[in-house]
Amino acid sequence: MRGMSTPPSPTVQPATGRLGVLTVGLGAVATTLIAGVELAKRGQALPIGSLTQMGTIRLGKRTEDRSPLVKDFVPLADLNDIVWGAWDVFPDDAYVAASRAGVLDGGRHIEGIADTLRDIRPMKAAFERKYARNLDGQHTMGVGTPKRMMLNAIREDINRFRDEKECDRLVMIWCASTEIFIEPGPAHQDIASFEAAIDAEDDQISPAMLYAYAAILEGVPFANGAPNLAVDTPVLRKLATERNVPISGKDFKTGQTLMKTVLAPMLKARQLGLSGWYSTNILGNRDGEVLDAPENFKTKEESKLGVLEDILEPAKNPDLYGNVFHKVSINYYPPRGDNKEGWDNIDIFGWLNYPMQIKVNFLCRDSILAAPLALDLVLFSDLAQRAGLGGIQEWLSFYYKSPQCAPGLYPEHDLFIQLTKLKNTLRWMMGEEAITHLGREYYDEIPAEL
Ligand SMILES: NC(=O)c1ccc[n+]([C@@H]2O[C@H](COP(=O)([O-])OP(=O)(O)OC[C@H]3O[C@@H](n4cnc5c(N)ncnc54)[C@H](O)[C@@H]3O)[C@@H](O)[C@H]2O)c1
Repeated sequence: MRGMSTPPSPTVQPATGRLGVLTVGLGAVATTLIAGVELAKRGQALPIGSLTQMGTIRLGKRTEDRSPLVKDFVPLADLNDIVWGAWDVFPDDAYVAASRAGVLDGGRHIEGIADTLRDIRPMKAAFERKYARNLDGQHTMGVGTPKRMMLNAIREDINRFRDEKECDRLVMIWCASTEIFIEPGPAHQDIASFEAAIDAEDDQISPAMLYAYAAILEGVPFANGAPNLAVDTPVLRKLATERNVPISGKDFKTGQTLMKTVLAPMLKARQLGLSGWYSTNILGNRDGEVLDAPENFKTKEESKLGVLEDILEPAKNPDLYGNVFHKVSINYYPPRGDNKEGWDNIDIFGWLNYPMQIKVNFLCRDSILAAPLALDLVLFSDLAQRAGLGGIQEWLSFYYKSPQCAPGLYPEHDLFIQLTKLKNTLRWMMGEEAITHLGREYYDEIPAEL
C-alpha cells in the first residue's frame, strides 16, 4: 500500500463476568430486544437479524474455506452473561411495557419469560417535557429537577446498578423517544462551556446529553439508537476519545432508510439518474406519536434526508443527481401499531434520459428490525472497549442512519461498504488480513482444471 500502513492489532481482553446493559427507555425497541435475547438464551428463538449471533465472516483467501461465525471469531459477551437495567418515564416493568408495546405475541414470546421481564423495573428517568411534548409520564426524577442533579443521579444509578448486579462491564444504549431538534452550538464545544450550560439550565443541554455525559464519565460505552444529538457533540466526542470510551450513533438504520442505502448505491453504481424520491410512512406506536410533534420529527427528518446526498454526491455527478426532489414524511396512524408501512416512489432516468419508476412498499415491523441492531451494538460496543478502542466507532456505521464520524469526514452510508468496514475491523482486531476483494494475489495459483 502506498504511504498507508495499518496500525498494529490491539489486544482484546476476554469477555469474562457479567455485562450490564442499560437501556435508556423501556419501550417497544428495548422490550423487544430484551425478550428476544431472553428467549434466545433459553433456546426458544433464534436471534434472527443479528450479525453477531447468526453471521459468518470469511477469513483469508476464498480457497482457504475459513468462514467462522462472527461470535466464534471475536470474543463477544455471551448472551447468558447479560443483565438488564433501564430508565423510563413510565413505571411499567418490562413485562407490562412489552405487553403494551404490542410488538410481540404475548402467549408465544412474553408469558414464558414473564418472571424475568417483571424483574426489570425502570429507574426514574432524567426527563424534561419540553424535549418530548407528546410524552406524559410521571416516573421521572421530578419536574424542575436541575440538570446538574439529573446528571449526578444518572451517575449514581449507573454505579448502584453495577454494584447490585455485580457487573464486570456496562454498556448504555439510547432506546428512548426522539428528542426535539437541537443543533450543536457554543454550549457543546468544550467541557467548560458544557458544564456552565448545565449549571445555567441552558435549553441546549437535553436529557440525552446528560445520559451520554454520565456514561462517558463512568467509563460506559454509549450507543445512540435515536437521531437526537446525545453523544454527537464536539465536547462529548473529545471526552470519549480522551477517556477511551467507545461511542456511536445515530439512529438505528431500519425500514425505509435501510432500503434507501441499498437502492441508492445501486443507482449510482449503474450511473442511473435520479429526479425524485418520495418516501412516506404510517406508524402507530408511541414512537410515531412522539414523532407527530413537528420539533421531534425535524430531528428524524434531518437524519433521513442526509442519506441520499451523501451517497449520490450531487456535486460530483450534477447531470445525474444535481436536481433531486427528496421528501420524507411520517404519519401517525394508531391502527397499525408497531407495524409500519413505508412507501417509496423513486423517479429515475436512464440512457437518453428515458424516465423509469421504482415503487417500494415495505410492510415492516419496526422493533423487530431494530432489536437485533441494538443487540449487535451492545455487544460490539463492549468488544470495542475490551479492544481499547475509544471515541467514535465508525465501523459501527452499518447500524445507523446518520453514522457518527470524525469532523471533516463524510459519513459512509452504503450498506455494503459499511459491512466491509465492519468485517475488516473485526479481522484487524483479531490479527487477520483485511479482505480487499482484489484476489490477484492468489488467482493464478488456482489450478485451471478445478
Ligand atoms: N424501531 C425502529 O425501527 C427505530 C429505528 C430508528 C430509531 N428508532 C428510535 O428508537 C427510539 C425508541 O423507539 P421505540 O419504538 O422503542 O419507542 P417507544 O416510544 O416505544 O419507547 C421509548 C421509551 O422511551 C421513554 N423515554 C422517553 N424519554 C426518556 C428519557 N429522557 N429517559 C428515559 N426514558 C425515556 C418513553 O417513555 C418510552 O417508553 C425512538 O427514538 C425511535 O425513533 C427506532
